[in-house]
Amino acid sequence: MPHDISILSAPATLKIVIVGHVDHGKSTLVGRLLHETDSLPEGKVESLREVCQRRGMPFEWAFVMDALQAERDQGITIDTAQIPFRSALRPYVIIDAPGHKEFLKNMITGAASADAAVLVVDAIDGVQEQSRRHGYLLHLLGLRQLAVVVNKMDAVDFSQRRFDQVAAEIRAYLAGIGVTPTEIIPIAARHGDNVVERSPHTPWYVGPTVVEALDGFRAAAVPTELPLRFPVQDVFKFDHRRIVAGRIESGRLKVGDRLLFSPSGKTAHVASIENWNRDAPAASATAGQSIGITLDEQIFIERGQIASLVEDAPVASDVFRARLFWLGRTPLAPGRRYKLKLATAEHVVTVEAVERVIDVTDLASVGNEWVERNAVAEVVLRARGPVALDPFVDNPRTGRFVLVDNYDIVGGGVISMDGFADHRCAPAGQAADLTAVAHKVTLRDRWLANRHKGGILWLTGLSGAGKSTIAMEVERRLFHKGYQVFVLDGDNLRQGLNSDLGFNASDRAENIRRVGEVAHLFAQAGMIVITAFISPYRQDRDRARAAAPALFHEIHVKAGVETCEARDPKGLYAKARQGTIAEFTGITAPYEPPVDPELVVDTEQLGIDEAVERVLRYVDRDLQHAEDATMSPAPQPDVAL
Ligand code: ADX
Repeated sequence: MPHDISILSAPATLKIVIVGHVDHGKSTLVGRLLHETDSLPEGKVESLREVCQRRGMPFEWAFVMDALQAERDQGITIDTAQIPFRSALRPYVIIDAPGHKEFLKNMITGAASADAAVLVVDAIDGVQEQSRRHGYLLHLLGLRQLAVVVNKMDAVDFSQRRFDQVAAEIRAYLAGIGVTPTEIIPIAARHGDNVVERSPHTPWYVGPTVVEALDGFRAAAVPTELPLRFPVQDVFKFDHRRIVAGRIESGRLKVGDRLLFSPSGKTAHVASIENWNRDAPAASATAGQSIGITLDEQIFIERGQIASLVEDAPVASDVFRARLFWLGRTPLAPGRRYKLKLATAEHVVTVEAVERVIDVTDLASVGNEWVERNAVAEVVLRARGPVALDPFVDNPRTGRFVLVDNYDIVGGGVISMDGFADHRCAPAGQAADLTAVAHKVTLRDRWLANRHKGGILWLTGLSGAGKSTIAMEVERRLFHKGYQVFVLDGDNLRQGLNSDLGFNASDRAENIRRVGEVAHLFAQAGMIVITAFISPYRQDRDRARAAAPALFHEIHVKAGVETCEARDPKGLYAKARQGTIAEFTGITAPYEPPVDPELVVDTEQLGIDEAVERVLRYVDRDLQHAEDATMSPAPQPDVAL
């Protein structure tokens, strides 16, 4: 297609944002960049130099920015909020005015977005509160490509030592907020050192200049190159056909493709593409087109679902993180409920947590209790069922949303799945041609032989809450009372069955899925199985419960982060604080406490002995001896294990 070729031959414009304190030389850098890349209007610099001379003041590169700004204020030139320039490689626009309300609003709601960022830090001042806030801004904007420039190197005699100090400080700070700079560049913007021309004053520096660093960034993928996202707008009945209508937000589809509709998980093939504006049916369609399609199967489809290709589906999750800009008159607060609109879908969501609130005027962090109008916040939102979505960084079209309250739009934001897992069920049918075989020994037979009921005691809680200690002691005591009992412990299983899994959200989800399956098998064998896993996600525990609801007993081993951190039996909290363990539950990864567990054992209040007693009492009451087992209705043993 012709426009694809043009994309290949002419590099796309890269949008960059330059952040940093004004005093640290942001405007100077921009002025210098524009000048050295010949991107300023003819005679601009000369006329500014003249004005300065007349007024007897030294010329500053920052005046270039001021002049452009002044012209914009008078409505003379194009919008300076988007300043264009060109390197030998490609065109750029600098999106200006960081910290400004409109800027943040546009960026956060996804109306405008940058592909990369430059953070300016002063070599004399080093990393200060202001630099931290600007660094945080980058995290907030979800920017993954970042160059840091250490400016005013001339004022520290181009000292490598000073540069190394500042670079180490900024690297440490950025690591703490999950941002990794691609480059840290020593510059003197005023004199042009390492901006476009390599500086003779920094022979010890071997990295790229600012422009080389920019040229090294990747441009965002064009929507047609992203995975297919076709949100369903409507389903029309047309004579005998059903037409699924919508706009392709990204990617492409063609007749014959097998589409997966999320979050329902149903699939069907594209039978035809009906293009409103053409007579002849099309064989394929791409991002930006509004189309109708017919399918080869009559599956249930409704507005709001997102069609994708089976192998490249959106995330399905009932919980996610969002960075949002709040416009509501009443503050957003934990527990409040809103309507979320994402592509064509609407979901009711509850604010589960407000993690951070930022005042947009000075980027200061202002608590985490509620979000006032015009503030930016990081929040966790939970829906009642799975939502089909994409992290904003993967697909801006299906990675942003608005919140609606009483018909008013009260906020807009972008989605991040940091710390949360995709809960899309593994597509069924991986293993075909299976026939379940029924056991000839029933669960009831096993219980009678054991003289007690079986089941799963699912302990969940933070690391250090006491799960393993309680589990092992309960196991010992039950064993000596004649119970068939076995503990599945996180640290143990992770050395065997689950040794291929780490601690990111999806590995944890898989960890718990396997444990749920194994526990289910033990329970089907008639035993009492005690699991001791953090199992931080509610959805994972619910899935384990769903496999055998009548046999599942969720026990919250409850202790707060402060308590667990003070105990720190394995020294892991200390490591997490030092940053040597990533994604540590309670510190840098979430823990979602049970909503309605069968039992809570609060180890802040109870000693281990008493905690063990509580569990034993629960077992005595609910998993009594055989005679009782025959009395109460035994769950139907499942055939498919
Ligand atoms: S879970 O989150 O997937 O349920 P699991 O219970 O299996 O975790 O394993 C937790 C144990 O692994 C902890 O008790 C601790 O000893 C160890 N561990 C190592 N790294 C981490 C981490 N990043 N977060 C939590 N626990 C960790």
